Amino acid sequence: RRTIGVAVLGMGNVGAEVVRILQQSASDLEARVGAPLEIRGVAVRDLGKARSWCSPSLLTDDAASLVTRDDVDVVVELIGGIDLPRTLIGTALEHGKSVVTANKALLADYTGELATIAARAHVDLYFEAAVAGAIPVIRPLMQSLAGDTVQRVAGIVNGTTNFILSAMAENGDDYASTLAEAGRLGYAEADPTADVEGYDAAAKAAILASIAFHSRVTAGDVYREGISTITTDDHESAATLDCTIKLLSICERIDDSMGRQRVSARVYPALVPNSHPLASVNGAFNAVVVEAENAGRLMFYGQGAGGSPTASAVLGDLVMAARNKVHGGRGPLESTYASLPIAPIGDV
Ligand code: NDP
Ligand code: HSE
Repeated sequence: RRTIGVAVLGMGNVGAEVVRILQQSASDLEARVGAPLEIRGVAVRDLGKARSWCSPSLLTDDAASLVTRDDVDVVVELIGGIDLPRTLIGTALEHGKSVVTANKALLADYTGELATIAARAHVDLYFEAAVAGAIPVIRPLMQSLAGDTVQRVAGIVNGTTNFILSAMAENGDDYASTLAEAGRLGYAEADPTADVEGYDAAAKAAILASIAFHSRVTAGDVYREGISTITTDDHESAATLDCTIKLLSICERIDDSMGRQRVSARVYPALVPNSHPLASVNGAFNAVVVEAENAGRLMFYGQGAGGSPTASAVLGDLVMAARNKVHGGRGPLESTYASLPIAPIGDV
């Protein structure tokens, strides 16, 4: 009976949890896939670091060799950054490996490129974990709502900034120590500037807008403001207005001055009335509200950051990719992302 070989790239906050679940739930996962999943190797930067869950014999600092091994069927990329994972994922896809990644910074600009390579190689590229951690939002937009017309996708898609804003508003905690705590809890990016200046939320907005509107929106198309200048005084002023400050990501179809359909995507701290459901999304939780022509309004809510919640989404993708390897079948095709020529408009 066939075994599905898995290469895990990166064993940090998310990668360590993926390896743990792969090992602890091996028999359940085997039953769901129809074949055992076996870790062939785990690529890290520093071989000298102490690691829980992982046999030292699996560790390598040569990710490039790992992704082309004949006994690897699926590559799980959890390193982060852009240049190295772009090369590793491209190489893996070209070598016939399906790829699962949580890397929103990469996907925001290169989903089209990578999806094209995946289509050519007849393999899968899955990335549910790239937006809103554990919350299923990519697959509902790509599959469940594929027959509807999505008008708007809006919400809170960065856990670190929501954790900081909630702690400042609820307890008067200071910005710097709350940001440090978000790092300790595994919510923040390796460089937390990406979180607090809105780059991470903008990357997620680009991915959501591309999928929701079957368009091609990149991070540079998204208007962006962060939360680093928000003070406790701002939170107090918001409270007097019966509002809460939230970093919102808003993607919508709009008509430009010539009456042509465009995509607007923007990220900025906003005053949210306390009566609105997004006002009570606190801590590292995220929520995404989707408005579609026929479905109406849908709300997705849950843990948006952290090792285990994110690993849940990664494992879901891994099971799907492995099932396709065992039973045949394919994930979303390249046309999912860019079937309509709706251009992004930037800020409006
Ligand atoms: P970490 O910084 O905790 O882990 C990164 C891992 O990559 C480390 O194990 C590191 O090795 C390894 N690594 C770095 N450079 C190399 C290299 N050149 N070769 C091989 N391995 C390397 O990141 P996270 O786990 O937090 O995030 C991983 C990805 O998941 C990122 O793309 C992030 O944006 C995304 N993500 C993270 C979420 C979270 O809540 N943390 C949620 C959703 C997505 P070493 O251990 O030796 O340093
Ligand atoms: N740094 C990200 C966040 C991780 O805080 O939302 C989840 O994508």
